[in-house]
Amino acid sequence: MTSVAIVTGASSGIGAASARRLAAEGFHVLAAARRTDRLTGLVAEIEAAGGTATAVACDVTSAESVAGLAAAAEAAPGPVTLLVNNAGGARGLDPVESGAVGDWQWMYDVNVLGTLRVTQALLPALEASGAGTIVIVSSTAGFTVYEGGGGYTAAKHAQTAIAGTLRLELCGRPVRVVEIDPGMVKTDEFGLVRFDGNAGKAAATYAGVPEPLVAEDVADCIAWCATRPHHVNVDRLVVRPLAQAAQHKVHRVGL
Ligand SMILES: NC(=O)c1ccc[n+]([C@@H]2O[C@H](COP(=O)([O-])OP(=O)(O)OC[C@H]3O[C@@H](n4cnc5c(N)ncnc54)[C@H](OP(=O)(O)O)[C@@H]3O)[C@@H](O)[C@H]2O)c1
Repeated sequence: MTSVAIVTGASSGIGAASARRLAAEGFHVLAAARRTDRLTGLVAEIEAAGGTATAVACDVTSAESVAGLAAAAEAAPGPVTLLVNNAGGARGLDPVESGAVGDWQWMYDVNVLGTLRVTQALLPALEASGAGTIVIVSSTAGFTVYEGGGGYTAAKHAQTAIAGTLRLELCGRPVRVVEIDPGMVKTDEFGLVRFDGNAGKAAATYAGVPEPLVAEDVADCIAWCATRPHHVNVDRLVVRPLAQAAQHKVHRVGL
């Protein structure tokens, strides 16, 4: 029977690339996000490539909406073996002394509480499959801080804490927990969301960086972890572009 993978934040970037890749690996993918028009296009693309997927409208900040995702998982055509908690993002690059409380609240709600809500809702199905995997897409910001990143790094540190805690709590049960920590990934929307639609500021992040990671690179890491034999638990996978040795150490050319 086909295994089912759930990907949150599947309407763009890393989530969309992961949905495509996991469908190509043979999973039936439940692609979840708020923008259903994007999801419908993604599902059509996956089907055209010979895979199967279902679009599920889901706002991870709403318990009711997440309950709808769990209901969709129950109706899915196979055991739910994989959950990719990917929905998230950053808002603002302000110092702690002047950061907007609303931006911090948004980041905490989507990245941290979103992961909590979705994981709680799907854990029974993952465990019932007998071979479940929970992937949490945190970030190198989950273990490093940088100026202006206070709200985002606080949220990603919290997601990293969830991954570590959950792995301890689930020890002895058939659900592994994998944390993926990407560095700089050039996706279409991450910077636009961070800088409130300012394309110039978003582009400046990647200026002069030869070959930043792209969404498909991270999807490749997620797929690799998820397709290891189930007794192999990749606790944490840190992945950066070659040009980024550390958060503060980025090789840029031509600037
Ligand atoms: N890009 C990077 O450099 C980078 C580096 C490390 C880690 N990450 C992490 O990787 C993940 C994906 O990032 P990305 O670069 O692919 O960003 P992205 O293209 O902006 O994707 C974010 C996704 O999250 C979804 N989302 C936002 N709010 C949501 C909500 N309330 N409910 C459900 N879905 C929601 C968005 O879909 P809708 O708007 O349609 O709901 C979108 O599909 C994030 O957790 C991010 O923090 C990114």
